[in-house]
Amino acid sequence: METKIKTFVAAIANQKGGVGKTTTVVNLAAALSRMHRTVLVIDLDPQANATTGLGQQPQEGVSLYPCLVGQAQIADMIQPTPYENLNVIPSEVNLSGSEIDLAQRPDRLAVVRNVLQAIRDANVFDYILLDCPPSLGILMTATLAAADGIVVPMQAEYYALEGLSTMQNLITRLKEGGANPALELNGILMTMVDFRTRLSMDVVDEVKKHFGDKVFETMIPRNVRTSEAPSFGQPVVFYDPSCRGAEAYRAFAKEFVRRNPTRERVDVETEIQKEEGDANHDQIA
Ligand SMILES: Nc1ncnc2c1ncn2[C@@H]1O[C@H](COP(=O)(O)OP(=O)(O)OP(=O)(O)O)[C@@H](O)[C@H]1O
Ligand SMILES: [Mg+2]
Repeated sequence: METKIKTFVAAIANQKGGVGKTTTVVNLAAALSRMHRTVLVIDLDPQANATTGLGQQPQEGVSLYPCLVGQAQIADMIQPTPYENLNVIPSEVNLSGSEIDLAQRPDRLAVVRNVLQAIRDANVFDYILLDCPPSLGILMTATLAAADGIVVPMQAEYYALEGLSTMQNLITRLKEGGANPALELNGILMTMVDFRTRLSMDVVDEVKKHFGDKVFETMIPRNVRTSEAPSFGQPVVFYDPSCRGAEAYRAFAKEFVRRNPTRERVDVETEIQKEEGDANHDQIA
């Protein structure tokens, strides 16, 4: 029997730079693909880190940009990656021009949503993950307007909470202003956590005090292999599956699937156990 999918669109966003957005997109995508979920990563950052992190080179004319300006169909922009179930719409420098292009359009907040509608309606991808740039520009705002939920990666350091109120205000404005009434803060993911330092753990406690169960149980440790993997054009989940960073991202993917199921009739827990079996097998092999 064919499994019915209802696509979930998640924006990975935080206007603060260097908090682990791209690392989260790339590795969540990789871990989900290992769980036999079909995934599309859309790189919306002209820096193209998610693109190269998945082993692709940016090419002019292949991105969401031509779709935003009505020059291409989104289906034609989808590129395969070396990994099964994992596809990408790369970024290119032209994307940085979209701020100006969009600014003049009355429908600017709906543009990304409208462009995504066709692949959303097709329900072939379990998850569409949107890697946002570190800004509060129009493209980023329009991207949030297109999402079902926002995952906010947050580095466990002082001042981490400051940026979060900005994100929350933006969510409220998009909801109440009608651009995306269904938008939710899906969760906060603590990244680069140093479990040995008091500071890191104090910040985690503080964030949990404010946001309760919006904070994902899984926390991503600071891990050298995780920071090395992008220079090999690979998600750490594939580059070094047994390192702590890879382990954490696999755990996060399971939690993410439980929070955001896309397949009605399958038993998520059974599937997750099966995946764990496969992963153990890989490690033994
Ligand atoms: N768990 C981790 N352990 C160690 N290094 C990490 C970890 N996560 C991310 N990094 C490193 O931190 C830096 C910033 O991460 P990343 O690029 O994912 O952040 P970002 O929020 O996407 O940044 P930007 O705002 O520039 O897009 C990168 O050099 C990355 O390799
Ligand atoms: Mg990034």
